[in-house]
This record gives sequence, structure tokens and C-alpha cells, in this order.
Amino acid sequence: MNEKYDVSGVPTTGHVWDDDLGDFTNQPPKWWILGLAASALFVVVYWTYYPSIPFASAGSFFKGIGGWTAIKEMEADKGEVDAIRGKFESRLKDMTPAAILADNELSEYVKRSGKVLFGDNCAACHGQNGVGTRDKEGLFAPILNDDDWLYGGKIDNIHETITGGRQGIMMAHKDSLKPEQIDAVAKYVLALSEGKGDSETVGKKVFMESDCTACHGPDGKGIQAMGSANLTDKVYRFADIKNADGTYGISADSIRRTITYGVNSGDPQARVAAMPGFKAAGKLSDAEIKKLAVYVYKFGGGLADAPAAAQASTAGVAR
Ligand code: HEC
Ligand code: HEC
Repeated sequence: MNEKYDVSGVPTTGHVWDDDLGDFTNQPPKWWILGLAASALFVVVYWTYYPSIPFASAGSFFKGIGGWTAIKEMEADKGEVDAIRGKFESRLKDMTPAAILADNELSEYVKRSGKVLFGDNCAACHGQNGVGTRDKEGLFAPILNDDDWLYGGKIDNIHETITGGRQGIMMAHKDSLKPEQIDAVAKYVLALSEGKGDSETVGKKVFMESDCTACHGPDGKGIQAMGSANLTDKVYRFADIKNADGTYGISADSIRRTITYGVNSGDPQARVAAMPGFKAAGKLSDAEIKKLAVYVYKFGGGLADAPAAAQASTAGVAR
């Protein structure tokens, strides 16, 4: 024992080094001791209430006296969400897609909740947010967020497309037209899209006199009921050329190929364009299909209901 340390009145443990360094017997502060006791108590309470201690046999554990499970907690949360959704869901059940669209609150709800439905059922072909997907032939499935539509962009057209599916058909022309006729009419189609369809060319004659007008119309603008492409704009489905500015263009080869082998024509080299129907296959409920129609419309490309006379000009445009 070194007297030097008696000054403080606190006894040392007897450990003194170098005469300068002593080991006092001071107690830790009270708050610290209380904290230690409280946390020890907390551990016991927590372990007892919640599932905690694993037992030796695989998968078994002390389940806690509170009966808490992660599943129960998730279901409670889900119940809350369902209660909020339920209000909207029960309202839209008996409404037409057009009525849902006209109801601001409901259409806003669908715009948010349709994302998962679209992601699960449509995005693989149409891309997230309907931007379309491409392969080397061009667009694999049409872009849905522009105002360019094959089958019409009004809410009821879109609803019908999703319900029943679509599969536009253009027959092959490899037997009905000679290669030079196909070549000429392909050139005419290119001229049409450049706004130069007026001059009387061999291609125009083929277009007018073979079967093209039956489906694409005498003006080449397409017919909505058939989903035949509008050939007078620059929006092509089978656009195989990527321009420097990121837009897509079409080659004469691509047009020739479509004319030669057709679309969904059964020819082994035909273009394939198949939109599955979601009702008959039982893939989606009526309510889900309605929601998707509104969701797709809300990408921004949906067309307003026009008066009957004006419909022809807004309808049946490619992609
Ligand atoms: C297997 C791929 C595939 C899936 C899945 C698919 N689509 Fe399509 N969709 C297509 C193709 C291909 C077309 C074009 C059909 C044609 O040209 O005749 C199309 C056409 C459409 C059109 C018409 C576009 C227009 O210009 O008129 C709409 C609307 C549409 N799809 C919405 C949907 C929605 C909504 C879903 C999900 C419920 C969906 N599609 C799922 C491939 C698909
Ligand atoms: C039976 C109806 C039908 C006939 C006849 C028809 N087409 Fe088509 N055509 C279609 C359909 C449907 C499409 C596919 C549109 C789509 O799915 O994008 C199409 C697509 C095309 C395309 C591709 C456009 C693109 O976006 O890449 C061209 C080009 C075309 N047709 C030209 C012609 C020409 C030229 C003729 C006459 C020799 C003709 N078609 C006859 C129905 C027809």
C-alpha cells in the first residue's frame, strides 16, 4: 500500500505500479449500473415475448409467449392495404372502362395499381411503361405510349384488344405478284410514307390493282378493324434501321419481305405478330382487364371518343 494514494481517501486494490499508477476501488456511476440492469431485464422480457432461442433440433425454436410471427404482421399490414383498395375495387367492378377513365379518383388509383399487373402480364412483350420491345426485325410488340394505334386507341378499342387478343393477317404475295411487281410496290410504299404517293408509278398501279387497298385502304392509311398498318406515316413496325438520332427507319428489304411473305400468313418466313387474349384463357379477371385498359390508355397515347364522322381519321393508324 502506498501512502501517496491516501489523499483521495479511496483505497486501492493493492495494485500500484511504478509508484505513480494506482488501481482504485471506485464503483462505476449509478446511471451506468442501472442501464446495465435495465438492458439485462429487457433481454429477458424480449426473449420471452418474441420467438428467440433456437433448439437443437432443426427448425424448432422457442416461439415466445406473445404469439408474434412475421406472417401475422405482414397479413395485418396487407389487411390495411386491402381495406383501402377494397373501396376502389368494389366501385370499379361494375363500371365500364370509359366510366373508370372519366372518374378522376378511380383512374388515378388504376394508374398506380396497374403497374404490377402490366409488369407481370404485358411488359415482357411491350416493355416497361409500354415503350415497346425490339428485335432485329423491328418492333416485336407495338409501342403503347404514343398516339399511333393499329387497332384504335380509344378506351374501348384497347379494352377489346386486351380481352380478345389481336393477330393481324396479311397474306404472302410471293405467288400472286412477280418479284419486279413486289419491288415496285415496295418503292411505292416508301414513297407513300414520304408523302410522295401522288405520282403515277408502276408501284402505285400494283398497289391499286392488287389486294393492298382491301386492307390498307385506297389511301394506304390502314383499317382499324383489321389492324392493317398505316403506310403513309413514318412509323413502321418492321423498322430495321437505327438512325444516328436514335429513331428507326425501314429498309426497302424489310418492306419487300413483309409483302413477299406476309404477316401471320402461315408462310414459314412470315412476320409474326400475336397479341394473346387475356379473357378466354382465364389469365386475367374482368376487373383486371378493365384496369389494364385504363392503365394503358393513361400512358398518354389514348384517344378521346371522337364524333362518328371524325373517327375514320383518328383510327386505324399503325402501331
Ligand atoms: C406475347 C407478347 C405479348 C403480350 C404478353 C402482350 N402483348 Fe399486346 N401485343 C402484342 C403484339 C405482337 C401486338 C400486335 C398484334 C398485331 O399486330 O396484330 C400487340 C398489340 C397490343 C395492343 C394494340 C396496339 C395497337 O396499336 O392497336 C394493345 C393495346 C396491347 N397489345 C396491350 C397489351 C396488354 C395490356 C398486355 C398485357 C395484359 C399485352 N398487350 C400483352 C404482343 C403481346
Ligand atoms: C388481308 C389484309 C392485308 C392485305 C391484303 C395487305 N396487307 Fe399489308 N398488312 C396487313 C396487316 C394486318 C399488317 C400488319 C400490321 C402490324 O401488325 O404491324 C400489314 C403490314 C404491312 C406492312 C408492314 C408495315 C410496317 O409497319 O412495317 C407493309 C409494308 C404492308 N403491309 C404492305 C402491303 C402491300 C404493299 C400490300 C399489297 C401488295 C398489302 N400490304 C396487302 C394487312 C394486309
